[in-house]
Amino acid sequence: MVITCPSCKKQHNIDEKRIPPNVTMARCKGCGRRFPLQPARDESKKAAEKAPAKAPEKAPEKAAEPQAKKAPPVSKPKVVRKLAVSISKGGVGKTTTSVNLAAGLALAGFKVLLVDTDTQGQDSFMLGVKPKAGLTELVTGELGPEEAIFKARENLYLLAGGKSLAGIKRLIDRKDFGGEMTMAEALVPIENKFDYIIVDTSPGWDPLTVNVLFFVNELLTPVSLEVMTLQGLVEFLKSISSIQKYRKEVALKYILPTFLDKRIKQSDAILKKLRELYGDLICTPIRYNVTLSGAPAHGKTIFEFAPGCNGSQDYRELIRKVANDKNLFT
Ligand SMILES: Nc1ncnc2c1ncn2[C@@H]1O[C@H](COP(=O)(O)OP(=O)(O)OP(=O)(O)O)[C@@H](O)[C@H]1O
Ligand SMILES: [Mg+2]
Repeated sequence: MVITCPSCKKQHNIDEKRIPPNVTMARCKGCGRRFPLQPARDESKKAAEKAPAKAPEKAPEKAAEPQAKKAPPVSKPKVVRKLAVSISKGGVGKTTTSVNLAAGLALAGFKVLLVDTDTQGQDSFMLGVKPKAGLTELVTGELGPEEAIFKARENLYLLAGGKSLAGIKRLIDRKDFGGEMTMAEALVPIENKFDYIIVDTSPGWDPLTVNVLFFVNELLTPVSLEVMTLQGLVEFLKSISSIQKYRKEVALKYILPTFLDKRIKQSDAILKKLRELYGDLICTPIRYNVTLSGAPAHGKTIFEFAPGCNGSQDYRELIRKVANDKNLFT
């Protein structure tokens, strides 16, 4: 049977008898994409009916290996989960959350890609690494994924941000149309290598933010429990709905209250208001914790720097919610 990859159209000769009955997906080693076998089988049958029957010329190649549906651990996502940590307001804990969420998921055994789309390039700093290349080189095509992606920890891979991201912005500007897909075009071909892709975004709203929203499916929005943040959240959600008109897949999944300080009355009042307005979207808050602001200077995640502190506990709770597995880390 000749099966054609629906993405790159590469043809694979496969001995149908060798495909176990429970196998529904195949992976094309030409482009790396997974695709359902049944439509490809139907196509192949149609083609065989049209063409005179003849034995396959080539021996079955390994290129499209049937992917048996192994029983993954309960919490492993079946398809990659692409999640942006985003809100226009600055200093609310986007980077702290992106790095610790990604690092914690990696510790839990998931394969994670952390993408830094901020010119401040703080994700590298927080992880204590100095990659020579990153997102810019991958998107501009200067380097392939092997060179552009930096292994920061076991299971944790980084596409670094930094000043060079201006190069991507120029690339987006130069396009007459389709500029919003620039980042997705570079990342989609490699996305299935990971269980999670966590994207840290810059404050404000620029062409790169729009690109992120045309790539991810889920949004996690940190909201610092101080005055004026509700206003910032409402404004941000308006911008999100303007994107959702063109891209229905992107959804606000989590609102993460940050900088909860029980000593400050307004902290509790804002949290109560958030719960009234957004119900189940609200995650268990991240408490104000000086250790969280101390860890980056040591190039360590909170789990490495102070695994027992409140910050660690709160981020573990977030990871359990995101991974939908209350037994993680227990
Ligand atoms: N829960 C917390 N308790 C105390 N300090 C925190 C907490 N979360 C983050 N910080 C500190 O607050 C500062 C801002 O956090 P962070 O850089 O994560 O915010 P950001 O939203 O990414 O900022 P920007 O918009 O500039 O990218 C950092 O110094 C960080 O270490
Ligand atoms: Mg940041």
